[in-house]
Amino acid sequence: MEKIAILFGSSTGNTESVAEAMAEKIGSDNVDLFNVAEASVDDLADYKNFILGASTWGVGDLQDDWDEFLSSFAEMDFAGKKVALYGLGDSMTYADSFVDGMKQIYDEISDKAEVIGAVDTDGYNFDESASVVDGKFIGLPLDEDNEDDLTESRVDAWLEDILGKFN
Ligand SMILES: Cc1cc2nc3c(=O)[nH]c(=O)nc-3n(C[C@H](O)[C@H](O)[C@H](O)COP(=O)(O)O)c2cc1C
Repeated sequence: MEKIAILFGSSTGNTESVAEAMAEKIGSDNVDLFNVAEASVDDLADYKNFILGASTWGVGDLQDDWDEFLSSFAEMDFAGKKVALYGLGDSMTYADSFVDGMKQIYDEISDKAEVIGAVDTDGYNFDESASVVDGKFIGLPLDEDNEDDLTESRVDAWLEDILGKFN
């Protein structure tokens, strides 16, 4: 497997902590971590595998640093690249916009890159999410506000799925 770039945007540290935990599980030799607040397209151009992590703020808004960075993806050549998405959200307080932020990233890249790692909605309690496409989440939803006890098992199952699919 070629090296993975994990690119995260995080306002209070939850998406960042998950990025660090994923990096440790995958093995630091196989991963480079980038905070989207400091990253540039040049830093990322040579990677063929990406994990993109974003939280949702406002009501269904993409995390601020991601919001600033996202248009940079228009300049990036995603041909042959594989991308897996994860999103942090709050399924109780924001049950109608649960992890919506992921969808904004998906919309930017889904016709350029191969998006892997869709997740069944079973086991999640929410009313609506823009990140459900064709009946599945487009990436891995995580809820550190209400279900932090489920995060590790959700991450483990998801990594098992995506690591076999990367370049
Ligand atoms: C003001 C505010 C608005 C939020 N809006 C949403 C939302 O619309 N949808 C959602 O799923 N989560 C929402 N959340 C929950 C955050 O996404 C969640 O706490 C997340 O873990 C934060 O991750 P971060 O620390 O990496 O930014 C909101 C939280 C706050 C405090």
